[in-house]
Amino acid sequence: VSAEPQLPAGLAYAELERAHRESAGTATRTPLLSAGSLSSRYGGRLVLKAENLQRTGSFKLRGALAKLRAVGSAPGVVAGSAGNHAQSLAYAARAAGVRCEVFMPLDAAVGKLAAVRAFGATVHQRGEAVDECVALARARAEESGFVFVHPYDDLDVIAGQAGVGIEIVEDLPAFSTVIVPVGGGGLAAGVAAAIRQRRPDARIVGVQAERCAPFARALAGETAAPSVAAAATIADGIAVKSPGEITLPLVGRLLDQLVVVDESSIADAMALLLERSKLVVEGAGAAPLAAVLAGTVELDPGSATVVVLSGGNVDIGLTATIAARREALQGRRVRFLTRVPDRPGGLARLLATVARTRANLITVEHVRESAQLDVLETGVVLTLATRGPDHAEEVRQALRDAGYETSDTA
Ligand SMILES: Cc1ncc(COP(=O)(O)O)c(C=O)c1O
Repeated sequence: VSAEPQLPAGLAYAELERAHRESAGTATRTPLLSAGSLSSRYGGRLVLKAENLQRTGSFKLRGALAKLRAVGSAPGVVAGSAGNHAQSLAYAARAAGVRCEVFMPLDAAVGKLAAVRAFGATVHQRGEAVDECVALARARAEESGFVFVHPYDDLDVIAGQAGVGIEIVEDLPAFSTVIVPVGGGGLAAGVAAAIRQRRPDARIVGVQAERCAPFARALAGETAAPSVAAAATIADGIAVKSPGEITLPLVGRLLDQLVVVDESSIADAMALLLERSKLVVEGAGAAPLAAVLAGTVELDPGSATVVVLSGGNVDIGLTATIAARREALQGRRVRFLTRVPDRPGGLARLLATVARTRANLITVEHVRESAQLDVLETGVVLTLATRGPDHAEEVRQALRDAGYETSDTA
């Protein structure tokens, strides 16, 4: 990467600074948080750029504000988005007194839908993926005269997202690496445009979800922006099937490396951020940390590595599932099948045995009909919270000692 990258005029540092300055007051300057326990575990200094604490819950507000300022007066704006762009555009449009319509996928997160409506925008729920929503929004712009606002393939939007990079450069005296999630590439292009112009030696790494990673293919040599089949991923914010025409060459030129992360690493990263850093971060936002956890990106022991936590808009139900999964992985939640005689007091005796181990009962399910059961016995599936794998084993042993067989169940 050249020290003085050739960038479009709209991405000169002075332009990025102007967009950043003009959004101050509406967009928050988000904190850079030192992640102490995570740093020692991964052998370097990890710094979290907490855009999940941004107003509207993601960095997308920066791009939306920059675009609204660039278009000046407009009868209205229209966009297609999985949620965060919609939410941010709705917020920015309301602040500017402009009407806003958005097209969102049928399975968009409930919390994101509610927020967009709460900011006063009209929501049309159509299509399976963001790309389809973008096409619908474009058609609506033509027929209505509203200004179409692309979620990433737009120089004004990219210049707005660069605010994340400007704040990293201004607030952190030294760092060697920045890891940023890549969906359509607007955030990565903006952050990299800012950082390349001030810290040309920093390494910039982009992260895509393995299940939807068109940039990797594109940068491997295909000339046109290819489209991949979208598969469901918990990183819904970065499940974009095709790179942008503006963002593809910028990401290719400005980033040093592009990596992919699997679903399980993303879930681990979300759980770790919740547990250790007390931060609610959505899948897309946790993808950069997932790359560190999976060992895909190694930390530089001598300098700081910044991970951009790009957003925190996640349904509370998914957060609960992820927390329960982490407890199960750590052996702090166990689930097994056992059998009791089908007569009064049979279940009570089993539960009394569990109670003596001081494991906490989460659920008890009675299984009455199963080919594996004798006619005069009842299956019981127990889900228990334990203090860890040793305690879980103590519970099983106590049950065996009392005459109960246990077997694992999904
Ligand atoms: C939380 C979050 N992170 C990352 C991204 C990816 O941004 P971009 O499409 O600009 O690459 C998005 C996009 O919506 C997002 O919502």
